[in-house]
Amino acid sequence: MLYPRGFQFGVATASAQVEGCGLDGGRGLSIWDTFAMKTGAVTGGATPGKNACDSYRLFDVDLWNMMDLGVNAYRMSIAWSRVMPQGTGQLNQAGVDYYKRCFEKLLKAGIAPNVTLYHWDLPQALEDRGGWVNRDSPYWYQEYADHMFRLFGDIVPAWVTVNEPIATYVGYGLGFFAPGYTNKRWGNQARHNVMTASGAGVEAFRASGAKGQIGAVIDIWKRLPMTQDPEDIALAHDEDEENWKFYADRLLGTGYSQYILDKFAREGTLMDMKDEDFRLTNLPIDFYGMNYYNTVPVTANKERARAAGGNFAEDRSAFHPESLSTVLKMIIDQYHLSIPVYVTENGFGHQGEETVNPATGMVEDDYRIEYLKAALASVESLIRDGVDVRGYYLWTLMDNFEWSAGNTFKYGLLRTDFETMRRTWKKSAYWYRDYIRAARQM
Ligand code: FCB
Repeated sequence: MLYPRGFQFGVATASAQVEGCGLDGGRGLSIWDTFAMKTGAVTGGATPGKNACDSYRLFDVDLWNMMDLGVNAYRMSIAWSRVMPQGTGQLNQAGVDYYKRCFEKLLKAGIAPNVTLYHWDLPQALEDRGGWVNRDSPYWYQEYADHMFRLFGDIVPAWVTVNEPIATYVGYGLGFFAPGYTNKRWGNQARHNVMTASGAGVEAFRASGAKGQIGAVIDIWKRLPMTQDPEDIALAHDEDEENWKFYADRLLGTGYSQYILDKFAREGTLMDMKDEDFRLTNLPIDFYGMNYYNTVPVTANKERARAAGGNFAEDRSAFHPESLSTVLKMIIDQYHLSIPVYVTENGFGHQGEETVNPATGMVEDDYRIEYLKAALASVESLIRDGVDVRGYYLWTLMDNFEWSAGNTFKYGLLRTDFETMRRTWKKSAYWYRDYIRAARQM
């Protein structure tokens, strides 16, 4: 058998993207609810409350679909504002009960939950106190994380502190994500603080005596210079520094690179930092989770520079699923990683409606299958080369609220009808089910 026993084949989702159901059950507003209410912020005016998948109400349906797929892991996230509507202080019992039921049902079905504490949906109440720019934010997060470990630490086998911390930068520095500010200094402070929060989460985890493992997730969009021109090489390096090294240097190394510190100092965007922040992120983690979608060709030449890569790239020529293994190996080598790794997200996004074949009632997404085949072949090569990769979580179970793209980007194995919330299997869902079956018999 190629895959080691216990290897996790999973699917991944996030609370703001799938739970829906407005503020049912006493959930507090998150920054994504507020952001989505601003005209033009989200394509088509979609909101997490109305245009996610109502998984809060339909969790059992999702569970049955996962059982039919044959996955043995589910990466999901807790909506901070569901369990703590004000972000700190009072717990919301209905929210706590909801997650308890989810975890128990998953475990009973033989599906291990891998639970992300922060997947971008900061409680609005905390945004009102300055959000991630506030230097207290890591400690608000620590209070929340501590509650979760004490409540669920005996049953949840794996935790992720934060997912893709770059989202805070996109939210405070670039404005494409909630809360929608375009201030680079704030963006840098926010991304610094969210990394500190990750460390504060690890500290709380160890102190709580929780049983499972804890890690963090950084997405790696490796830049590749399109030519060997010094300008292209310099730009690729700069983008690597800004887009993933900032986070990886802190989480997997010991701190920021001189390059980034000098650059921010020059720009006047350097963050307020304390030794304590680094002490927290230097606490050891149990695993690293890589989100991998693509590599990004980069050139300083405007003519040549087409939108190639990026979360929402539709340009197939920029898709390199097979580079999953080279990028992961690069990270392992660069940071001398000796902890286990997971592919915590990987999948294929299609822009716009996907055609349903009227004869079969099915989306025949051969393009997605083609991408997944190459990505999983890449995972197989990692195993063959002896890399300690413990799981692969496909993004995503079903079409959902794809952040600023609303419902216009489809990543699901299942198609979601956003009027009825009915989920139907695409061809890729059958393909993944069969791949998992075959892998278990290899
Ligand atoms: C990742 C996010 C995830 C989803 C996928 C498509 O960046 O972590 O929530 O949006 O992209």
